[in-house]
Amino acid sequence: MTSNFIESALERLKQEGLYRKLRRVDGEQGATLSVNGREVLSLCSNNYLGLANHPALREAAKQAIDRYGCGSAASRLISGNMTLHEELEEKIAALKGTEAALVFNSGFQANAGIIPALVGEGDLIFSDALNHASLIDGCRLSRAKTVVYPHLDLDRLEQGLRDAPSNGRKLIVTETLFSMDGDEAPLDGIVDLAERYGAMVMVDEAHATGVFGPSGAGVVGKLGLTERISVQMGTLGKALGGFGAYVAGSRALREFLINRCRSFIFTTSLPPAVLATAIAAIDLLYKEPQRRLALWHNARAMKEGLRKLGFSLGQSQSQILPLIIGDAEKCMTLSDKLLEKGLFVQGIRPPTVPPGTARLRITLMATHTHEHLHEALAAFQEVKDEMGL
Ligand SMILES: Cc1ncc(COP(=O)(O)O)c(C=O)c1O
Repeated sequence: MTSNFIESALERLKQEGLYRKLRRVDGEQGATLSVNGREVLSLCSNNYLGLANHPALREAAKQAIDRYGCGSAASRLISGNMTLHEELEEKIAALKGTEAALVFNSGFQANAGIIPALVGEGDLIFSDALNHASLIDGCRLSRAKTVVYPHLDLDRLEQGLRDAPSNGRKLIVTETLFSMDGDEAPLDGIVDLAERYGAMVMVDEAHATGVFGPSGAGVVGKLGLTERISVQMGTLGKALGGFGAYVAGSRALREFLINRCRSFIFTTSLPPAVLATAIAAIDLLYKEPQRRLALWHNARAMKEGLRKLGFSLGQSQSQILPLIIGDAEKCMTLSDKLLEKGLFVQGIRPPTVPPGTARLRITLMATHTHEHLHEALAAFQEVKDEMGL
């Protein structure tokens, strides 16, 4: 019975062009990598600054293992707070310009835990329609009523806030840089509305951390909104090249989450090597600002090149370029053809993106060279001609 259900579900996914499969990568995650034994150019990585295989991160992880061992033994409330947890949190708070920070095991866990800690039954959440699955699941787990407003639409957000009953808490949740579209939330406007209608704001800086703002502090830092946003979440596994996540805000927020956030309390904490890697990555944000500049340069060059080829890239303002195809199957054919030509670019389909908006999600890295970009654009030109796009 059970296996019948599983097999028929898989069959249906295949028929709908929504079946997902894992592609094997040998070796490390660099600007180029080996997929199924073949060297290809990576255009799908969130390792935006190229830190995942940086010598300083490797060395930090090795030294941490030598000094502290491999595991953290239990959750921080049980087996104790390792000095590296605190050192990393101090670094994150300094980068973000907040009083405090708290480290989480992953961005998914952070979002799934923080939202239910902040709001519950009888409260209201306002969530951008294109928010990440982890934010959506956090909203669901909270049992608060969730009002989904159209992507970036301040008028509709205001309408929702105006119509909200006066009792209960209100929380606005948005990504700052949207993961699948590469566009920015209108944060100034969101914060103005939150203040006018008495709502809290929680932002997800997963794709902006390390990339935007002073020393890579994120969009909030870039716009100078730190004092006006109560909960800033971000990840350590994308531009920072390692693994894990954080929330930055007031000391009281940190203490509250230590006491109330289930995905912090009931899980074994990050191990020493991972913590040390993140510390080394944050140090590099200050020491190697040229990486951010190279990333921006590459993003601009790729955007211009693809537009010249006639591709439409939505409203991207960043290193994430959505090349919208629409049909899921066509998108995957395009991705397969590009892989044959030596480009590793993922097709992103529903339910990750709304139906009818399947796309190639192209992401740039600081470590892409001029030759890499040239090679990529030549391959895009070829598939465009072959598929009559
Ligand atoms: C916007 C956003 N938030 C949260 C996450 C989850 O972060 P992590 O990969 O650390 O679980 C992601 C990752 O894909 C993301 O894109």
